[in-house]
Amino acid sequence: MNLMKKILVAQATVVTLWAASAMAATESDDAAIAERISPLSTVCLAGEPCAKAAPVVAAASGGARTGEEVYNKFCTTCHATGLLDAPKKGDTAAWKQRADEQGGLDSLLKQAIQGFNAMPPKGTCSDCSDDELKSAIQFMSGL
Ligand code: HEC
Repeated sequence: MNLMKKILVAQATVVTLWAASAMAATESDDAAIAERISPLSTVCLAGEPCAKAAPVVAAASGGARTGEEVYNKFCTTCHATGLLDAPKKGDTAAWKQRADEQGGLDSLLKQAIQGFNAMPPKGTCSDCSDDELKSAIQFMSGL
């Protein structure tokens, strides 16, 4: 082997070693990054210890909303003021009259799911479950 070849082989060896150590460094960096960002994968709810908190994704998709939450977000626009002649929140007499005429709370729920006249289907809460809508109706009507 002449001198020139020896130098080339030596260089190739150095490059190989450098690449291997760079890869090792990258792997341990990944682990360190994962460790540093891991607190972001849990959510801490007010009044609850963080350790018990559900991951963000589960919190967003699971867990029924209360009637009050649904009402405040979706129903209040019309039912707070009686817009378009919607029965008002807290006007239990008006709600009771409707319930009596139509065969009870479950009939009102059915109407609310389908929508009728100016009342939009599901009161615009398209991802509300029947139970969530029922809770909202109970919250508004006091029935
Ligand atoms: C765009 C306005 C609007 C929104 C938003 C709205 N409502 Fe209504 N709602 C009405 C109107 C208007 C009526 C009365 C319709 C009628 O009697 O002709 C009504 C009636 C109702 C009734 C009575 C049904 C019956 O059979 O008499 C229920 C129950 C009801 N709404 C539930 C809800 C719930 C629950 C929400 C929120 C998730 C909601 N509404 C959101 C306008 C609205």
